[in-house]
Amino acid sequence: MKFKKMLKLRHACKLFDDRKISQKDLKFILKSGVLSPSSHGFEPWKFLVIEDSEKNKALSKCCQNQENVATASHNIIILARTDLQSKDEFAQSQIRRFTGSSEENFQRVLKIYTHDTDLMDEKELFHFSQLQCYLALMQMSLAAMNKGIDSCMIGGFDKKAVDEFLNLKYPFQTAVILSLGYKKNEPKYAKVRLDYKDVVEFI
Ligand SMILES: Cc1cc2nc3c(=O)[nH]c(=O)nc-3n(C[C@H](O)[C@H](O)[C@H](O)COP(=O)(O)O)c2cc1C
Repeated sequence: MKFKKMLKLRHACKLFDDRKISQKDLKFILKSGVLSPSSHGFEPWKFLVIEDSEKNKALSKCCQNQENVATASHNIIILARTDLQSKDEFAQSQIRRFTGSSEENFQRVLKIYTHDTDLMDEKELFHFSQLQCYLALMQMSLAAMNKGIDSCMIGGFDKKAVDEFLNLKYPFQTAVILSLGYKKNEPKYAKVRLDYKDVVEFI
């Protein structure tokens, strides 16, 4: 599918029909998420996939009873991780991938890459990771559209309730959800966006 067409066709789908996404397409979408960029290459995320319709309905209860979540073929819950400080094994292992076997180089890069996260508290670390998770969210949404699969990004949820529903433990917290499936109806509204001239300014 042409990129421009994909951007036009992707929309916040409010209701899905009962078709299931194939495992092949699902893998394509998830692999696109895995390839997302992230600050310092931390990849501070995990993607939980729900494909059971009863579980999707239960998840929807934590998401303001949104019908798109309930009727989705699959929901991908993108978890943000908060173990991104110099003391954390995960952060260290992510950085080691770039520094080779030299301990001196590793310590130098670790200091640089965790300079900002070492100053953050748990809430700020979550916010930092959540920003990265949104990139994976967009990438997976467009990957889905590329396969003719509709989606809706879901930020309307009770975070505490979703975290509990998923039985999440440190270092994971729910960042955002992507509901996936095939649209039941055509979008109700045409795309509304600010004018190019009001958004873009050459300086
Ligand atoms: C981070 C984020 C969270 C969103 N949360 C919801 C949501 O909970 N429920 C919903 O129906 N749409 C949600 N949306 C979809 C937006 O409302 C939608 O993208 C916007 O109105 C533009 O419409 P379009 O995507 O159809 O072009 C969310 C979008 C983003 C980016």
